[in-house]
Amino acid sequence: MTDKPVKDLTEQQAAEEAADLRPQLTAWGKAYYDADAPTVEDDVYDRVYARLVALETAFPTIVTADSPTQHVGGTTRGDLPKVTHEIPMLSLGDVFSIDELKEFDARLRENVEEDFDYNCELKIDGLAINLHYENGKFVQGSTRGNGSIGEDITANLLTLPSIPKSLSRPLSIDVRGECYMPKAAFLALNQRREAEGKAPFANPRNAAAGSLRQLDTQVTADRKLATFMYNIADYDPLDTRTQSGLLDELAELGFSTNPTYQVAHDMADVQAYIDEYTGQRNDLAYGIDGIVIKANPLPLQRELGATVKVPRWAIAYKFPPEEVETVVRDIEWTVGRTGIVTPTAVMDPVPLAGSTVARASLHNPDYLAAKDIRIGDTVLLHKAGDIIPEISQFVAAKRPADAAVYPVPTHCPSCGAELVHLDEEVALRCINPGCPAQLAEGMNHFASRNAMNIAGLGPQIVAQLFDRQLVSDVASLYTLTADQLLTLDKFGDKSAQNLLTAIDNSRNNSLERLLFGLGIRHVGAKAARSIAEHFGDIDHLMAADAEAIVAIDTVGQIIADSVVTYFSTDQVQQLIARLRTVGVNLTYTSGAVVTDEDSQFAGQRVVLTGKLLELTRPEATAWLEQHGATVTGSVSKKTDLVIAGEAAGSKLTKAQSLGITVWNEAQLQSAMTEK
Ligand code: IVH
Repeated sequence: MTDKPVKDLTEQQAAEEAADLRPQLTAWGKAYYDADAPTVEDDVYDRVYARLVALETAFPTIVTADSPTQHVGGTTRGDLPKVTHEIPMLSLGDVFSIDELKEFDARLRENVEEDFDYNCELKIDGLAINLHYENGKFVQGSTRGNGSIGEDITANLLTLPSIPKSLSRPLSIDVRGECYMPKAAFLALNQRREAEGKAPFANPRNAAAGSLRQLDTQVTADRKLATFMYNIADYDPLDTRTQSGLLDELAELGFSTNPTYQVAHDMADVQAYIDEYTGQRNDLAYGIDGIVIKANPLPLQRELGATVKVPRWAIAYKFPPEEVETVVRDIEWTVGRTGIVTPTAVMDPVPLAGSTVARASLHNPDYLAAKDIRIGDTVLLHKAGDIIPEISQFVAAKRPADAAVYPVPTHCPSCGAELVHLDEEVALRCINPGCPAQLAEGMNHFASRNAMNIAGLGPQIVAQLFDRQLVSDVASLYTLTADQLLTLDKFGDKSAQNLLTAIDNSRNNSLERLLFGLGIRHVGAKAARSIAEHFGDIDHLMAADAEAIVAIDTVGQIIADSVVTYFSTDQVQQLIARLRTVGVNLTYTSGAVVTDEDSQFAGQRVVLTGKLLELTRPEATAWLEQHGATVTGSVSKKTDLVIAGEAAGSKLTKAQSLGITVWNEAQLQSAMTEK
């Protein structure tokens, strides 16, 4: 992106710049909306997007049909049923300054004869949802998707206490709003995920989306999601004729609405609202990324209508990122699973946007060099997406005279091997396959949920296993003994036994989990599955050449080459031989029933309720599923077994009234250890 004013560009230059920006925005948009895992800060995305809008507005002939400005971001997941939005779910135009907001107001007032108010609302950092009611009954809930087609997430939304299952009046309406994860729930969830060795969510919005756009209602139920509803597809069935009145009426109908809205007569009122919430932002229990102003009269909203993507009657003002100063005391280099060595700035702790920050990633040597950050520098720090600490720049006037350019390390901080740049990558890599830091990270990945799913084997435990030389690679996990585990910090009989059980159970995983868990470059969970399904077992795969692998529809040349290279080394062949010896399954068994048929849980529908004291819900669920059970969120006639923890409530009562077998946690644990 250049900084050249759009008015100084020729059409040709604008077209070229727009053509560069579109694929970048599309890729970022995919990561954000479809994978719920953004690859760039929201602020950067917003600015690049705004530049593309400016280019296309100045030169309308350069707009292409596939431009991200022409579609509402997001697609739908293949495994969730689709829902068509008869009235599209729109996005919002963005502005970044009060001046731009005033321009929006002036343009609108030019086109509208009568005087009108705005309704000011907080812009909740969540995920847009549509709730469909018929005769006052909740019948379907969906995501926005691409605006026209969303995903059916009814079952998941039914677990949210804030969504009324029936309304106080028998209306047939589509109510729209935001589903979000409160900050406290987000921080607790990420702490839990990190302890379990799972990747943390980048921000509450992605955590909310990841919790809704998946197939297990129990996962949604455990994630403490909340909603604020703010819009309606068609206001005719309602009594009210203003946006502010709509919020009140939605609240009366039983919806959760955000109480902070204010009607503004002019831009001075809007400015006062912005100032108030800029100040209060960090004290709110939920994340907001701006404010939205909406023309208050609903008939005016209808009259103004929308472009393909955004309404003409509303606009979002995005907050500028908050910044603080602090001092860089050190730059630490850590080695990741694939050998990438990443620098992190270690700074004097400072409060920033609601938490204390002392570390920020500097990503790679090029980034470090471009930012020219040196030890001793005073830096400006902000939070990308309100959550991830990031250094904006150093403060030149405060640079100590002796601050030296940081020397990029030439050798691995973990194993001392020489570091390299592979294939002209920006990343610095350690390519020693025996590097202890990489092996530990590799083991964390191996144990992670989409890989071998070994509950309880998190980074702290892995680090101790390596430190105490109890393991050397992933195969050695399978020969660990209870006595060895008892030497780990805070490990008792129970935790040792649970971990051994989880490791033991992972032996039966279908091949795709192992293939993904091995961490072969470019092989994600999806490719691993296609490859495992195609070859059936590891021997056929290891005998295959790249041509045979690329013959699989969904697998490209880069993946195929990477797989062949991976299996060609002696070290990997020995690892596979050791995995075979320790009894790890090397065949594809998904599609068939994964579990042993003798398991008493095979084919059973199980509900977990109440608070478990020894096990976590995910552990219990994973174990039950590995043993053939389907774990569901609600008790019905079809339920076979209810496991009731402490303070179990209505589900337990219902199970008892239906005569369903009820176990306590201890009974489940003894079944787990019998296996
Ligand atoms: S109004 C046509 N109001 O922001 C109606 N949106 O960046 C358009 N959002 O897709 C939405 N808080 O998911 C509206 N108070 C609010 C909002 C809000 C958050 C989200 C919504 C929208 C996105 C656009």
